[in-house]
Amino acid sequence: MRMSRRMENLAPYLFVEISKKIAEKKAKGETVVSFAIGDPDMPTPPNIIETLCQEAHNPVNHRYPETEGLPELRQAIAEWYKKRFDISLDANEEVLPLIGSKEGIGHITFCFIDSGDIALVPDPGYPVYSVSTMLAGGESYYMPLTEENNFLPDLEAIPPPILKRAKLLWISYPNNPTGAVADLDFFNRAVKFAQQHELAICHDAAYSEIAFDGYQSASFLQADGAKEIGVEFHSLSKSYNMTGWRIGMVVGNTKVISALREVKSNLDSGIPQAIQYAAIEALTGPQDYLQEKNAVYQRRRDLLVEILNSIGLEAKPPKAGIYIWAKVPKDYTSMEFTNDLLDRLGVVVAPGTGFGKNGEGYVRLSLTVPDAGLVKGLSRLAEWRSSKRQFRQKEVT
Ligand SMILES: Cc1ncc(COP(=O)(O)O)c(C=O)c1O
Repeated sequence: MRMSRRMENLAPYLFVEISKKIAEKKAKGETVVSFAIGDPDMPTPPNIIETLCQEAHNPVNHRYPETEGLPELRQAIAEWYKKRFDISLDANEEVLPLIGSKEGIGHITFCFIDSGDIALVPDPGYPVYSVSTMLAGGESYYMPLTEENNFLPDLEAIPPPILKRAKLLWISYPNNPTGAVADLDFFNRAVKFAQQHELAICHDAAYSEIAFDGYQSASFLQADGAKEIGVEFHSLSKSYNMTGWRIGMVVGNTKVISALREVKSNLDSGIPQAIQYAAIEALTGPQDYLQEKNAVYQRRRDLLVEILNSIGLEAKPPKAGIYIWAKVPKDYTSMEFTNDLLDRLGVVVAPGTGFGKNGEGYVRLSLTVPDAGLVKGLSRLAEWRSSKRQFRQKEVT
């Protein structure tokens, strides 16, 4: 059997490795508290589940769904955008439901990138932007996201020869993994930049509905001219605790939406219809749930940030999203610190380098740990300094 060359360049997905390590620990009978994965622990709201159950009984929903999704779902997405961001969308031409936003993010690359083309991707960043670029035969140019620049890419620093070959610019705020946010001014600058250099922009807004202290995320499509050059990805996964149901959407530029619909119709067979009805209920039903959920995350954020700073890790409270991006102690790399926490304390975090080389010096902690685990995790983290001292003494003696 001879596998493709691209398989050689495909590293295992970061969380597959982390899950393996957790399973090994558990098999030895050890308890592990994982802050590594951003998978909401709270359940999908009951009204959404209720709709899903009812629709699952309807035989009409047992058959192949259409790639473009139910017209009622596209309409619900357009109305949600109008209500939430005051953006008008044509439900037929500018909206496309997805089997989770990861699916669309992976597939949209095939609409832009041929062999030798470049995609501009954030580093650190969600790994799917660069992996899909590689699978499409293209190259990623990594834009460093640094603290000095508030974890925004410095677009003007991209070398002109790179810009000549670049076709696609990826941005994502509220950001995974850094927890940074972007305002409308940044989105306006990004659109101007894309117009100057004939780039398309894909904005990944998977975390837009999780925000704290009254902060409200802007939509990239609110920027002047955004719809002429780009699209925005959204997901019901984090907003409505629906990661397991697999449903998201992409909205914006008609030509891009149409190209992605074309790719998808050749590769997948749409979203199960009962899940589409559940999504309609999520988007059009009561929304107070969002605030309740954000209050839980905010409380966890404050507890975690306090503990992390108390053991010497610099961590700022994020305004939005579900992640804390913490600086590791000076004498550790990201990976060394991650392994130290796992080996000695049974606490799992995601190493910053799993998101790119500019993630060195950081670890990412997710707020999606249920309260019982959180209390255990916090007390284990609080022990880190003293257990380190004892461990080092043991090493010396
Ligand atoms: C930045 C970002 N975008 C997109 C996704 C994909 O979410 P989903 O496929 O569940 O919609 C994730 C998931 O963690 C993410 O972190």
